[in-house]
Amino acid sequence: MPPLDLGVLVSGNGTNLQAILDAIAEGSLNARVRLVVSNKAGAFALERARRAGVTALAISHRDYATREEFDSKLVHALREAGVAFVVLAGFMRVLTPVFLDAFAGKILNIHPALLPAFPGVNALGQALAYGVKLAGCTVHFVDAGVDTGPIVAQRAIAVNEDDTEDSLAERIHREEHALLVEVLRWVAEGRVRVVPGVDGGRARALVSARGS
Ligand code: GRF
Repeated sequence: MPPLDLGVLVSGNGTNLQAILDAIAEGSLNARVRLVVSNKAGAFALERARRAGVTALAISHRDYATREEFDSKLVHALREAGVAFVVLAGFMRVLTPVFLDAFAGKILNIHPALLPAFPGVNALGQALAYGVKLAGCTVHFVDAGVDTGPIVAQRAIAVNEDDTEDSLAERIHREEHALLVEVLRWVAEGRVRVVPGVDGGRARALVSARGS
């Protein structure tokens, strides 16, 4: 299979982006990051991209009158860079159909909770406040809702009684990095597909066995 041409959208630190870049550099992920875009100019993720020799752009949503105009700018930049598949790695904007239709079925998001529990912002804080005993992370396809698309894979970890948001975040991040790279390997191998829901049920993501 040819390498997967990735575009990565970020808003912050970019440790998940780093995990992707590292996996590519060490030859364990058959992909190329064609472009990294942050909606925040100060995001450290942009610096990580540049250090890896990847083109990185800051495109501020504040410079666009509507969400659709911002999304159309993103689509244009990604297409121009030759991106075929998009990863939202800590990207803090909700995408409109302008973007979703342009990359239909080709957008993954990583979320720091066991969806459908605790979607949206501050998932870890929500989970701790609820008192859950298991936390984790989810990689899912992106649809028009907030963290609602078909789930590809999840990892769970135990919550300790003395966990703070920081201590839990650290362990979840470690799982995120491994999970995101693992799922991207499956995508690069052509093993992930979304099938429509039956009888009004939800669409779901299926992962076929290697070599099947
Ligand atoms: C991750 O926890 C991810 O699940 C969430 O945003 C965070 C991004 O972290 N969507 P980083 O910027 O990759 O370090």
